[in-house]
Amino acid sequence: MKITPFETEHFFAHYEFTTPHLLSVSDCESMTVGELLEASGWDNQKLANLRLGYTESQGNPDLRAAVALDYETIRDDDVIILGSPIEGIYLTLRTLLRPDDQAIVLVPAYDALINVTEHICQDVRRWPLKAVERGWQLDFDLLERLISDDTRLIVVNFPHNPTGFLPTHDDFAHLINIARHRGIWLYCDEMYRGLEYQHGERLSSAADLYENSVVLSGLSKTHGLPGLRSGWLIVRDERVRSTLINWKHYTSICPPAPSELLALAALEAGDRLPDRNRSIIQGNLKLADKFFTRWEAFFRWRRPQAGSVALVGIDVPSAATYCHNLAKDAGVLLLPSSFMGFDDHHVRFGFGRRSFSRALEHYNGYLEKNL
Ligand SMILES: Cc1ncc(COP(=O)(O)O)c(C=O)c1O
Repeated sequence: MKITPFETEHFFAHYEFTTPHLLSVSDCESMTVGELLEASGWDNQKLANLRLGYTESQGNPDLRAAVALDYETIRDDDVIILGSPIEGIYLTLRTLLRPDDQAIVLVPAYDALINVTEHICQDVRRWPLKAVERGWQLDFDLLERLISDDTRLIVVNFPHNPTGFLPTHDDFAHLINIARHRGIWLYCDEMYRGLEYQHGERLSSAADLYENSVVLSGLSKTHGLPGLRSGWLIVRDERVRSTLINWKHYTSICPPAPSELLALAALEAGDRLPDRNRSIIQGNLKLADKFFTRWEAFFRWRRPQAGSVALVGIDVPSAATYCHNLAKDAGVLLLPSSFMGFDDHHVRFGFGRRSFSRALEHYNGYLEKNL
């Protein structure tokens, strides 16, 4: 059976390593292995001494314990270390969904969340975020109308890629109440958790709030370590966890040993990596505020509330055509919203890299000549 092309990854595979000015990436500033070991106070010898045998299927026990510490009620046993974060999306949807289930997906969404769900289930209902004057909102009336007796799963992602939306604590609790009351599972993608801008805005994980949830997180975004391919799922339900681990034997068997060791180093470095990336994002958002004020007739700026990305309205006939031409003509990479289950009149900006200011300056010069 065919699956919809993974447009975002095809687009980045084509342009990311040949386009000089990346304005749309979702990860944050990365570092070398040496810098990571230094940040965690580890001796280089620890990596050199690592044996490259098979590892434990569910993940290294020390790493699972370190991950569990970031949650309020989660036990080491609830944690499954993955071969990569994206693997967690496939495993969760494969485990929870059957073809005749009905599923609801918050859109726009990172392609895999929609495409894999639609690959497995015939009845997938899209739940669009509502654009409001200053940002985005959850439309609970619409959600209630979308839910049916066959609804098995609601798929969400907070902080949200690509809008930068973060629900209030009350709205998040309300969503969980709806799911609990109707006996619906919740998949909550928390890959950008820890990138909140204001103290106190960080939500408790869905894993702590709801027993029938599966939560994905990892080190690609908040910690800026996407090359480590380190991610994990939190699954409190024992039966679901063991079915999921069975699926995992078909995809990665066990996590890569060097990735697990370096993930442990990253977690032992505490807040250092997330702090650095939050501060890069804050600085870049100030530049973005000025840029979008200057070009307010061309863009519709809704400032993100958390995470490393924002979805910005753009006054062109087709954002996809514009992005392809911009990459070729100006060497600037923006991502069109049409890849993520949305209209063709928005583009994603990403604020997590130090190179953002230079790239924005370059794009500004291009707009001065071409608008
Ligand atoms: C919401 C979301 N989930 C999962 C992933 C997958 O993460 P990774 O690319 O590190 O596997 C991404 C990557 O962009 C994402 O944005």
